[in-house]
Amino acid sequence: MSNTIQHQISLKNYNTFGVEVSCEKFINIRDESQLVTLFNDGAFLKEFFVLGAGSNVLFTRDFDGLIVRMDTKGITYSIEDDFNYVTASAGEIWNDLVWYCVDHNFGGVENLALIPGTVGASPVQNIGAYGTELMDVFHSCRAFDTTTGQFTNFQRADCKFTYRDSIFKSTYKGRFVITSVTFKLQKHHKINTTYGAINMELAKRGISSPTIREIAEVVSAIRVEKLPDPSTIGNAGSFFKNPLVSSEVFESLQAQYPTIISYFVDENYIKLAAGWLIESCGWKGKVDGNVAIWKNQALVITNLGSASGADIYTTSSKIVNDVYKKFGITLEREVNIL
Ligand code: FAD
Ligand code: EPU
Repeated sequence: MSNTIQHQISLKNYNTFGVEVSCEKFINIRDESQLVTLFNDGAFLKEFFVLGAGSNVLFTRDFDGLIVRMDTKGITYSIEDDFNYVTASAGEIWNDLVWYCVDHNFGGVENLALIPGTVGASPVQNIGAYGTELMDVFHSCRAFDTTTGQFTNFQRADCKFTYRDSIFKSTYKGRFVITSVTFKLQKHHKINTTYGAINMELAKRGISSPTIREIAEVVSAIRVEKLPDPSTIGNAGSFFKNPLVSSEVFESLQAQYPTIISYFVDENYIKLAAGWLIESCGWKGKVDGNVAIWKNQALVITNLGSASGADIYTTSSKIVNDVYKKFGITLEREVNIL
């Protein structure tokens, strides 16, 4: 496979915020061997960035380096003992993988339906939604080490998954290119309806014993109602993480704000709904120049059309300041800022 590097490419269609930035060099990876060629050519000694579908990045400037866009395709499976193992190439669209599993009646990823992005990015921030996280179904991934030019495998324990985090977002940030991911799905999968919104939507549809397909459909419907579609309204989903606070901090906040929304993590930590914190500061639906906070979900920052990445970042900083002033909590950005 030839390594055609394009020059001065607009990234507007390669980031779901739809911000207009360019990159100096751009390459579409359709075959793993292209990574080896890039390595041999010394491409990874200069600035580069691995891009999937651009649904969790904010470009605040033109990128003076090489964008390595993962576009490899292919999904296979094998069945062993009590598990279905599904392996997908990095460039596969995440939601296509979900529906591949649904069509094969493989349970485990249906709660993650309609999350934008690629399979290769899914372990990076340990994607999660509606009661399931990637780490629950992750078996291993194959990755290319841009410092040695070798391929290596990461098992689940190697990845150090936590809420919206993994070794690929921390210690190994920017070092490995994930080329495929293998999922380990239980044959006797138990449907997970623990997330309140799922049960409400199932009840509305009169479904009492949902199938894997029905869960994927219900989750997709909830998401369509709550979140803006990036193909028409630029956004990157939740801009911030839900913050973790100590039980003591939580108790004092709850005394002051009895309606604060929280989730039990363990005896030491409580997770707070950042959307509630941001809404309480008056930001839900608010317009700030070319940027607006989504009317149905205050965690989502949207591009009204002509916002720059810097505009979006500035609005996010105002939100961070307001939440800090009111609650003493520093929100952490989930989106990768460049
Ligand atoms: P990109 O945005 O292209 O990249 C994200 C990061 O991963 C970057 O650091 C990049 O360098 C790295 N990366 C990408 N591909 C690779 C690779 N092959 N190897 C190594 N590193 C790589 N996320 C959730 O967890 N839950 C949700 O419910 C959710 N809802 C969303 C809703 C909307 C409307 C949108 C727009 C986003 C949402 N997100 C959600 C965020 C986003 O979908 C995920 O973070 C997704 O995994 C990003 O995939 P991507 O291919 O677009 O990655
Ligand atoms: N809430 C508000 N105001 C808001 C938004 C939310 O009060 O403006 C309240 C809701 O009423 C609800 C609670 O906060 O009681 C949680 O809201 P929601 O169910 O929408 O989930 P979330 O915590 O805001 C997280 C993820 C989403 C994921 C959903 C569903 C993070 C940062 N976000 O949002 O992930 O889809 O749960 O599981 O953890 C993403 O990562 O990009 C993303 C969209």
